Amino acid sequence: MSASAASICFRSFRTPDTSACLAIFDLNCPAFFAPEERADYAAFLDDAPPTYEVCLSGGRIAGAFGLTPGEAASARLNWILLDPAVKGRGVGAAMMQRAVGLARGAGATRIDIAASQFSETFFAKFGARTLSRQANGWGPGMHRHDMALQP
Ligand SMILES: CC(C)(COP(=O)(O)OP(=O)(O)OC[C@H]1O[C@@H](n2cnc3c(N)ncnc32)[C@H](O)[C@@H]1OP(=O)(O)O)[C@@H](O)C(=O)NCCC(=O)NCCS
Repeated sequence: MSASAASICFRSFRTPDTSACLAIFDLNCPAFFAPEERADYAAFLDDAPPTYEVCLSGGRIAGAFGLTPGEAASARLNWILLDPAVKGRGVGAAMMQRAVGLARGAGATRIDIAASQFSETFFAKFGARTLSRQANGWGPGMHRHDMALQP
C-alpha cells in the first residue's frame, strides 16, 4: 500500500469498517498492542463510536483514531493505529494534527492519551507529557503510560 500524509483523507468510522480496523490491530499485535487489548478494541468498535475516524489511502483504510469528549474541557485520544505498510511517512503526524484541531474546535484544553512504552516518544513529539506509568498495565510486557497534551 502506498501512502503519504499528502494523499490521505479522513471520514467517520462505519460498522462495516470493523474488520479492516481489527486487521490493522492484528498487524500491530503483539509488537504495539497486547493480545489482551483486542477484545477491548472490538467492543469499542462494536459501539460504533460516533467520533472515531478512519484514515483512507487510495480508498483503502490505512489507519484509524478517535477523539472522545471528556469532562471539564478535556478530550481522550482513542485507539490510534496505522497499517505498518504506511508507517514512517507522516500519516501518524497528520492524525495527531487532526486530533489537535478537533480538540481545539471542541474547546478542549487537554487531550488525555493512554500510551505504552512503545508510543510514548511519538506522543511526546507533539508535546504530550507523561503523568504516570503502570508496569504491565496493558498486559505482560506492555506498560501503560498515561499522558496529557495541551492542544
Ligand atoms: C504511532 C503511529 C501512529 C505513528 O505513525 P507514523 O505514521 O509511523 O508516524 P509519522 O511517520 O507521522 O512520524 C512522526 C514522527 O514520530 C516518530 N515516530 C513514529 N512512531 C514512533 C514511535 N513509535 N516512537 C517514537 N517516535 C515515533 C517519527 O520518527 C517521526 O519523527 P520526526 O518528525 O522526528 O521525523 C504508528 O507507528 C502506529 O500505528 N503504531 C502502532 C500502534 C500504536 O502504537 N498506537 C499507539 C497506541 S497508544
